[in-house]
Amino acid sequence: MEPDGQTRRAWTAAATAFVEDFVAGLADAPASGHDAPVPAGLLAPPPDGPGEFGDLLARFGDAASRAIECAGPRYFAYFPAGGLYSSVLAEFLSQAVNRYTGMAAPAPAFAALEHSVVRWLCDVFELPAGAGGLFTSGASIATLAALHAAREDRLGGPDPRGTLYVTEQAHYCVAKAARIAGLTAGQVRTVPVDAALRLDVDAAAALIARDRAAGRRPFLLVGTAGTTSTGTVDPLADAGELARREDMWFHVDGAYGGAFQLTARGREVLTGITGADSITLDPHKSMFLPFGTGVLLVRDQALLRAAHAATGDFLQDFERDGWPDPADLGPELTRGYRGLRLWLPLHLHGVDAFRRALDEKLDLAAHAHQALTAAEGLAVPLTPDLTVTVFRSPAGDAATERLLSRINGTRRAYLSSTRVDGRHTIRLCVLSVRTHKAHVDEVLEIIRHAV
Ligand SMILES: Cc1ncc(COP(=O)(O)O)c(C=O)c1O
Repeated sequence: MEPDGQTRRAWTAAATAFVEDFVAGLADAPASGHDAPVPAGLLAPPPDGPGEFGDLLARFGDAASRAIECAGPRYFAYFPAGGLYSSVLAEFLSQAVNRYTGMAAPAPAFAALEHSVVRWLCDVFELPAGAGGLFTSGASIATLAALHAAREDRLGGPDPRGTLYVTEQAHYCVAKAARIAGLTAGQVRTVPVDAALRLDVDAAAALIARDRAAGRRPFLLVGTAGTTSTGTVDPLADAGELARREDMWFHVDGAYGGAFQLTARGREVLTGITGADSITLDPHKSMFLPFGTGVLLVRDQALLRAAHAATGDFLQDFERDGWPDPADLGPELTRGYRGLRLWLPLHLHGVDAFRRALDEKLDLAAHAHQALTAAEGLAVPLTPDLTVTVFRSPAGDAATERLLSRINGTRRAYLSSTRVDGRHTIRLCVLSVRTHKAHVDEVLEIIRHAV
């Protein structure tokens, strides 16, 4: 299992040649192929003897082609990121040196490097000196850690009277985290939204007051900085003020929209996010990383630590008072070294490259919204806050479903759908680092043609 240098170089050359062809081919790759049947050969059990790297790479390539092309420039579904090549290399490097980073002591410089990115993100959100956080697999685990910390801090632990507040537009990862943490469905209250699908702060205040009067203990208010369905940003300043007034933890789900804080327009739309007690970000969405990297930021890292820190006799050889131990800040102990996935791109390309890319996506989304609003035979119910535009056929749900199949059936673009005001609605999300004006113009032409 330890190849010699020549074999190692041959495997690496074959893998990089594959990746090179793959990335170069993205410009014209079909937008989807996930409806192709899965070859039975992929289910073969591993052989007792050795395989051949080239054959296995070919099988991998074949499997990769039978998928929605999330890495390509015409992927407009869900939240496309593309997948920065520099981050792919970061992962290769991290895995090759295989340092232990569940705790800081075994690789303190790696801990410092990761911490530098967390600290920089805290500065982006103007969080104070005691702020901190950690890299996670994504916003779902970050949300679980935030919810647990909020409950420990505000309620002192599980309490059947503890109640949290979300809107129906919030991502279900909050309700899921609540379930994992042992809250009942009745402890998760749904706050109404206004006509623009934003959290109705007055309604939230009334609900919280009613719940308090009924003996409940409201402890967490969740605002969303860019909802999954429509990219809508809640009134974060007013929501934060309400949470502070009520002595509740204010969490902002910025999985999609948070990174727009790097841009001037984004900062305006996200006004109030800097008042959060915790913020989730997904660099695998709006910082263009491949899947598997989320971030949790907390205003007071000590509270995150108090909620998660643990130890065992077998750890007595390590100092625990240096750089923050990631294992003390979330549910995982052993983990991949996620920090380099963001550190390398940030240092290699520079922060301005991210600002420019996000600004470009805002421009492209505005362009798409304008074009779809002007198009014949389409209804466009909302103006985008960030980079999601929603539209549908005025002829009803079935017509909208047929429209989406005609668009995706071209295999030149891939879009997804949701429900807005109870009606089937198509979403066009411009977010991939590889998506530029020509790609948006092409999908607009496809849509107009499909109507
Ligand atoms: C707004 C929002 N929050 C949270 C999540 C959950 O994130 P993850 O899939 O990284 O766990 C998503 C996922 O798409 C999302 O759109």
